[in-house]
Amino acid sequence: MEVKKVGVVGCGLMGGGIALISAQSGYQAVVSEANEELLNKGISAIKGILSRNVEKGRMSKEEEEATLSRLKGTTNMQDFSDCDLVIEAVTENMDLKKKIFATLDGVCPPHAILASNTSCLSVIDLAMVTKSPDKVAGTHFFSPVPVMKLLELVRTIVSSDETIETLKSFGESLGKTVIIAKDTPGFIVNLLLTPYLLDAVRALEAGVATKEDIDAGMELGCNYPMGPLRLADFVGVDVFYFVAEAMYEEFKDPKYAAPPLMRKMVAAGRLGRKTGEGFYSYK
Ligand code: CAA
Repeated sequence: MEVKKVGVVGCGLMGGGIALISAQSGYQAVVSEANEELLNKGISAIKGILSRNVEKGRMSKEEEEATLSRLKGTTNMQDFSDCDLVIEAVTENMDLKKKIFATLDGVCPPHAILASNTSCLSVIDLAMVTKSPDKVAGTHFFSPVPVMKLLELVRTIVSSDETIETLKSFGESLGKTVIIAKDTPGFIVNLLLTPYLLDAVRALEAGVATKEDIDAGMELGCNYPMGPLRLADFVGVDVFYFVAEAMYEEFKDPKYAAPPLMRKMVAAGRLGRKTGEGFYSYK
């Protein structure tokens, strides 16, 4: 199946990034938000990334305009009625995602593939609220979406070969390297990344070292672009907390249990860069 028009539900950090690279790669793209205020915020962030690309000489003014002409923002899910592929990228809340999949199932054409950007939730549970579970899979992008080279595809036990092939070609057309994982909690990347990150928080809690030294250890000792605590702030302490909780819920293995410090940070709204305060201060 040829994808011409891509829909994205959610214009936050991930959804906005997915809509941007889709439009940039020549697709017609429509991105939705729950209300005008959130939509304007998301579209402004997209425009900011594009202007920076032009300023830095990575993109011409014409390419910027062409990208924007292919990108439409909306608050009306009916605008997905002619999409060949819709990617849901809202917060990690199963009930909300199920509602969105049920709505998309009623709105999108019968041939459309529906995908979720979930980083840990069970994709088959989303597929089963639709009439065509074989046309549902996971498309897990990484933050920042325009920069990170990976797309992790999640194949459920009922995803069809055609669905996976179409999504693989789509991912490659965005310039991503595509890897394929089973629909198991955390897939490939978060299965490995989450325990590492939680161990870093446990090390901080136990007083093994300062946050700066824990991060420097992994940045300079292992050449990671960001240490684990800086990365948690970058992606969102709440995001990793939620991923850990979801993985613990499935595996019941203490290595996935979020340490108390993380839970308290989430309760206090210390979510990292997005709230100005996390393991580090960004004020
Ligand atoms: N959006 C778009 N582009 C961005 C960006 C953003 N938020 N942040 C950085 N960039 C781009 C810019 O083009 C920037 O170049 P300019 O400043 O010249 O415009 C370029 O990246 C390099 O950025 P910086 O010079 O500011 O900093 P850097 O060299 O340290 O790179 C980084 C930044 C790419 C984010 C790098 O630090 C990095 O790779 N960090 C690790 C990211 C990572 O591990 N992501 C995966 C997280 S896990 C996940 O997403 C999955 C999940 O399920 C939780």
